[in-house]
Amino acid sequence: MSMTSTRRITGPLTKPLVAPSILSADFAAMGEECEAVAAAGADLLHLDVMDGHFVPNLTMGPALCASLHRRMPDMLLDVHLMVNRPLEFVEPFAAAGAGHVTFHIEAEDDPDVVIDAIHAAGMTSGIAINPPTDWKAIEPWIDTVDLVLVMSVNPGFSGQAFIADVLSKTRAIRERLQDHQRLQMDGGVNLASVESCRDAGCDLLVAASAIFGSDDYTDAIATLRG
Ligand code: DX5
Ligand code: ZN
Repeated sequence: MSMTSTRRITGPLTKPLVAPSILSADFAAMGEECEAVAAAGADLLHLDVMDGHFVPNLTMGPALCASLHRRMPDMLLDVHLMVNRPLEFVEPFAAAGAGHVTFHIEAEDDPDVVIDAIHAAGMTSGIAINPPTDWKAIEPWIDTVDLVLVMSVNPGFSGQAFIADVLSKTRAIRERLQDHQRLQMDGGVNLASVESCRDAGCDLLVAASAIFGSDDYTDAIATLRG
């Protein structure tokens, strides 16, 4: 198994972390795109893994993760599994050098098994909820995971509009998290919505189109960080 990056998402923070989602990168120039956002201040890279079943799109798998890890061994690779049967993908992504794996509560009946597998593989864990899902659905696992991901679009594609209704449950989740845990917002995070995310307590901001659609990655990342 490849060693994962020594960078971790956990621990106290003074400023939010920013994670470019490579779903909006130029797939034909992925290595250069990732190095460019790293040089521009990205704290980690967010890999959106879609299976065509849990969401209506197909994107990337462990082979891309492994290539990025070989090219950028110090970069923390944050894998967002939008797949059914997430347990089957924990070990392949660990072997591919992922440092963090998030799975969806809507895709899993036995979250404890998935969380245990992620930790046993030496990675940090996250649990994600879709916009229509009540945050109470993840309450039993909030103390066990390293991160909660609140989806602010219905997962499947980048470039969708931010769903502001999720901000109230985001605040409720924030009250339940400890300092070493992260609260990640993903979907439609851009110049117009990012302040409301930070105000709701998000400390890990994912953005695809707001970064890769910008002509100045450094400025885009700094502005999202606030
Ligand atoms: C959506 C993905 C997001 C997406 C974000 O299903 O999980 O990470 O790439 O894209 P933007 O920032 O463009 O909404
Ligand atoms: Zn994502």
